[in-house]
Amino acid sequence: MTFMEHIALAGVLVSLVTAGSVHRRAAIDGCLANSSVPVDTKGSSTWNADIKPFNPRLTYTPVAVAVPTTIAQIQAAVICAQLSGVKVTAKSGGHSYASFGLGGEDGHLMIELDRMFNVTVNSTTNIAIVQPGARLGHVTNQLYSQGGRAISAGTCPGVGVSGHSLHGGYGMSSHKYGLATDWIIGMTVVLANGTIVHTSTTEKSDLFWALRGAGSNFGIVAQYEFDTFAAPSQVTYFNMNFRWNTTTAPGNLAALENYTKTFMPADLTMRAFVSSGSSYFEGMFFGNATGLKAALQPLQDKTGLVLASTTTTTFLKAFSHYSNAATDPTTPYSFQQTFYSKSLMLKGLNGTAAKNFVNYWYKVGPTNRRGWWFQLDLHGGAFSGVTNGDHSLSSYAHRDKLYLIQFYDQVYSGSYPSDGYPFLDNFVSNTTAGMALSDWGMYINYADNRLSQTAAQSAYYGSSLPRLQKLKAAYDPGLTLTNPQGILPVA
Ligand SMILES: Cc1cc2nc3c(=O)[nH]c(=O)nc-3n(C[C@H](O)[C@H](O)[C@H](O)COP(=O)(O)OP(=O)(O)OC[C@H]3O[C@@H](n4cnc5c(N)ncnc54)[C@H](O)[C@@H]3O)c2cc1C
Ligand SMILES: *[C@@H]1O[C@H](CO)[C@@H](O)[C@H](O)[C@H]1NC(C)=O
Ligand SMILES: *[C@@H]1O[C@H](CO)[C@@H](O)[C@H](O)[C@H]1NC(C)=O
Ligand SMILES: *[C@@H]1O[C@H](CO)[C@@H](O)[C@H](O)[C@H]1NC(C)=O
Ligand SMILES: *[C@@H]1O[C@H](CO)[C@@H](O)[C@H](O)[C@H]1NC(C)=O
Ligand SMILES: *[C@@H]1O[C@H](CO)[C@@H](O)[C@H](O)[C@H]1NC(C)=O
Ligand SMILES: *[C@@H]1O[C@H](CO)[C@@H](O)[C@H](O)[C@H]1NC(C)=O
Ligand SMILES: *[C@@H]1O[C@H](CO)[C@@H](O)[C@H](O)[C@H]1NC(C)=O
Ligand SMILES: *[C@@H]1O[C@H](CO)[C@@H](O)[C@H](O)[C@H]1NC(C)=O
Ligand SMILES: *[C@@H]1O[C@H](CO)[C@@H](O)[C@H](O)[C@H]1NC(C)=O
Repeated sequence: MTFMEHIALAGVLVSLVTAGSVHRRAAIDGCLANSSVPVDTKGSSTWNADIKPFNPRLTYTPVAVAVPTTIAQIQAAVICAQLSGVKVTAKSGGHSYASFGLGGEDGHLMIELDRMFNVTVNSTTNIAIVQPGARLGHVTNQLYSQGGRAISAGTCPGVGVSGHSLHGGYGMSSHKYGLATDWIIGMTVVLANGTIVHTSTTEKSDLFWALRGAGSNFGIVAQYEFDTFAAPSQVTYFNMNFRWNTTTAPGNLAALENYTKTFMPADLTMRAFVSSGSSYFEGMFFGNATGLKAALQPLQDKTGLVLASTTTTTFLKAFSHYSNAATDPTTPYSFQQTFYSKSLMLKGLNGTAAKNFVNYWYKVGPTNRRGWWFQLDLHGGAFSGVTNGDHSLSSYAHRDKLYLIQFYDQVYSGSYPSDGYPFLDNFVSNTTAGMALSDWGMYINYADNRLSQTAAQSAYYGSSLPRLQKLKAAYDPGLTLTNPQGILPVA
């Protein structure tokens, strides 16, 4: 069906739609059927599997689920949503912490992309064509097997390439090679009005900028061109245990901050992992154990950290070391955790803020008996590929942040208790209490569904927000592509 035929259909549909949601459902079902878009039948086992969220704390029911295998079918589905007055949401790997792949609320047309997972490297250009529902484990394995290539990306194999790289994408190569979004050089996109465009630094560059950092608000990416780098022949992953306390931790954090800012080399990517039961640094070094020791020495001298283990191996084996499940998943895929999570992106953590953070960690932490943890990525610094990425080419707003902290509170059975929220809310608010607003933000890839839409927009998009709001008005003024924390248009 052509676009004009759809417009002709619209008159019929509007009267159906105004009659209410039952008719809206009939309209979208009929339109998808007429356009030959594959769908999941409501209540079928594939429907149930596709609407299962990563975080069962947040379950939502779409009005319909499209399961395209071609770009034309994605386009037809978006046009049907437009004509039926239904909001439309893409789901790639489905790992959004706020279940935004389902829409973050009931009643969206969900476009399940995980049947589209092909990855093809051109051996002349080393550019990879990646379909939008490929999961990171599959992307990593395919790039590696097709000529030893790689992109910078996270190590959770089930995470989708789209949600991850359209909103940043930080992983074990990021200190050298920046974010996943930095490796996108071109995208084929279905816009909210159903038009297909190609975007890059030279075609609709404003859209390219917006998609690289706030992608879910600006279109449905139907295909990517990723630049790639040669995976290193060997890497070393490692572990350093530590035991700080309320007295020593603030000084050690000051040393960590200075080290991250001024010394930590690009070849080293590292994070602290802290739970109620253990605390250690872990990471990956692009080189051997001798090189790693030299890279860590200045930090060890100031903090007394001891290197507990090093393993020098291939890039792919190091990836699977940091994976939490099958390392090359496609579809079907099922992995769930019931949890609440928050994040902080910080320019620094020192002085009163560091004392408040440490106090909460050591004194309030033990009062929470669940499986809570935080992970502190050494995200920035003078030699960080994220910091040194071109700020003008993507809307990712946190290149000026030194740390990325993820706070996580999980239950292993039953539903998440409603009294669980204040523990993490207070961890964050105690930390930011003495900070200037410009010194911190939050990471949309660790979405906190309990933030208001206004608070979420500024925390996630910071100084990029005003330009993003203008572009939203240009590309999706009717809010066809949105969720409860979506960017609102400003004319
Ligand atoms: C176990 C685990 C480990 C993680 N580790 C890391 C990590 O190391 N580093 C890191 O940076 N993040 C990490 N994350 C966070 C992860 O990057 C985000 O949750 C990411 O958004 C998930 O992407 P997805 O495609 O799987 O999710 P989805 O829920 O499918 O999508 C997330 C958002 O992207 C939108 N979207 C999906 N596809 C498209 C498309 N084609 N076009 C436009 N918008 C689209 C969705 O509508 C939704 O708003 C981790 C998450 C989990 C669960
Ligand atoms: C589907 O197509 C049929 C036949 O062309 C038409 O009569 C009907 O109105 C269409 N329905 C929808 C919802 O598009
Ligand atoms: C992926 O590639 C295979 C092999 O070329 C092809 O058969 C299949 O149709 C492709 N899948 C999609 C969704 O494009
Ligand atoms: C790889 O890219 C080159 C240069 O753009 C092009 O000429 C060639 O056809 C591509 N190869 C394949 C297999 O697509
Ligand atoms: C904190 O650790 C230091 C160094 O290990 C130790 O000397 C000090 O006694 C500890 N303080 C407390 C309150 O445990
Ligand atoms: C900060 O780190 C540099 C190395 O980059 C070191 O020379 C300097 O002594 C450190 N300063 C403090 C106060 O620790
Ligand atoms: C470690 O790597 C360095 C730099 O590449 C190299 O000079 C050195 O010989 C290597 N050492 C060992 C023990 O392999
Ligand atoms: C201390 O932290 C603030 C952010 O709260 C940061 O702006 C500042 O650069 C840090 N100071 C030092 C000395 O690292
Ligand atoms: C700090 O946390 C405590 C709970 O331990 C809470 O009562 C207090 O309000 C928090 N303070 C700030 C400034 O958020
Ligand atoms: C769709 O939206 C784009 C971006 O706003 C615009 O350039 C294009 O003209 C629109 N297409 C139609 C058919 O309205």
